[in-house]
Amino acid sequence: MIKFVMAHCLADDSVSVDKSKALECMGDAFKGDEKEVTLLDINNINEDTLQKFIQNGQIDCLVFSPDTVVTPVGKSIVSSVLSNKDVANNCKIINLYSSQEEQDVKKSAEIGKLLLQENSESRLLHFDVNTDRVLFAQNLQGIRNDSVKSREKYQQLENDILDFTRSVVQNIETNKDEYTAKHIRSVSKIAEVIAQKRGISPEEIDILKIGALLHDIGKTDIADSVLKKPSRLTDEEFKEMRSHVTLGEIELNNYNLGDFERAKIIASEHHERYDGKGYPRGLKGDEIDELSRIVSLADSTQAMFGRSYQSGKKKDELISELKRCAGSQFDPKMVDTLCDVLDKEPELVYVSYDENENIIYDVPDTDKLLEDTMLSRNKREQDFFDSLKENTNPDLSEDEKNMDTSNSKDKEIGKDNKTIE
Ligand SMILES: [Fe+2]
Ligand SMILES: [Fe+2]
Repeated sequence: MIKFVMAHCLADDSVSVDKSKALECMGDAFKGDEKEVTLLDINNINEDTLQKFIQNGQIDCLVFSPDTVVTPVGKSIVSSVLSNKDVANNCKIINLYSSQEEQDVKKSAEIGKLLLQENSESRLLHFDVNTDRVLFAQNLQGIRNDSVKSREKYQQLENDILDFTRSVVQNIETNKDEYTAKHIRSVSKIAEVIAQKRGISPEEIDILKIGALLHDIGKTDIADSVLKKPSRLTDEEFKEMRSHVTLGEIELNNYNLGDFERAKIIASEHHERYDGKGYPRGLKGDEIDELSRIVSLADSTQAMFGRSYQSGKKKDELISELKRCAGSQFDPKMVDTLCDVLDKEPELVYVSYDENENIIYDVPDTDKLLEDTMLSRNKREQDFFDSLKENTNPDLSEDEKNMDTSNSKDKEIGKDNKTIE
């Protein structure tokens, strides 16, 4: 469901607008559509939640009165919204007043100045709650329609990115090299587990998984005679093999990966080494993106699992080889984490060992990897909205929240600071 989020910063003791009248106005504007509208009282949201909210670009419209615009919280909210480009492009700012007194107009001008500094004055709209009610409702509906369109566009892009990733893996599997397709799926899983163990954020883990699935996209342009050669590569062949990183970078730059743009960095850095001796740029240590360092380790580890014409390492050999390369090829912190997993919880990365400690590995399904990504993104969004509902009234107990403490006008629109439903 696409939600429209309207945040307001109206003060109870406002002299320039009757708060309940303003809230009534907002309620009127969405009669019949209440379930899709979330109305938040900024005054009751804790700072962290609000920041997250702004960063996520999920405020569609901010409503102030002349008084609240000039309060510290009002100013800081407007600045936060303006400083985030994604939010700034989509968020309208509304000044609600109920008189034309000179003093109020002056105060309204304060927010105008702020917006003017940022060249965004056109996003500020003024309405008188007494005389402009119909106009206000029409404008809100218009803003909402624009927001719904931009959210739909956003969701479409997200779906396109996942479809693109799926098609890349399928194309490699069907038309190029089945082993490489398995390799990238396995790398994605190993990378995900390392990241989870290291406390990387869920948002970054999604990027990591997509980046891992795309990291060898450049291999589709490598000759089969080189890519599938069962023996050691000549210098010339090795040079061609190495070019898959740059070829992949060029290929990926043709696509808009939206929230997953960082996946391109992963693909272009997955053969960099912690000591700076990798390729193509010779980046060193923290110069290499953290997610790229994870994929680099997962990539080399997976290669040591073995393939049809080459037996893999045994458990101890694998772990000691990884430890030997900690600090030179790999980020040592990541190595510690992965060795722990391979030793104590190998099943997390679809690995087991036979009685002779030989590695047996399975590969996760592409659809499952992508489905999990989609589910976790949707769940996070839902949790986020739920947390907003919980945080809007942090000082009230559950019983108090359910008590009828609102005045009759607040009740008409379903309370001022809860989801209207
Ligand atoms: Fe590679
Ligand atoms: Fe790879």
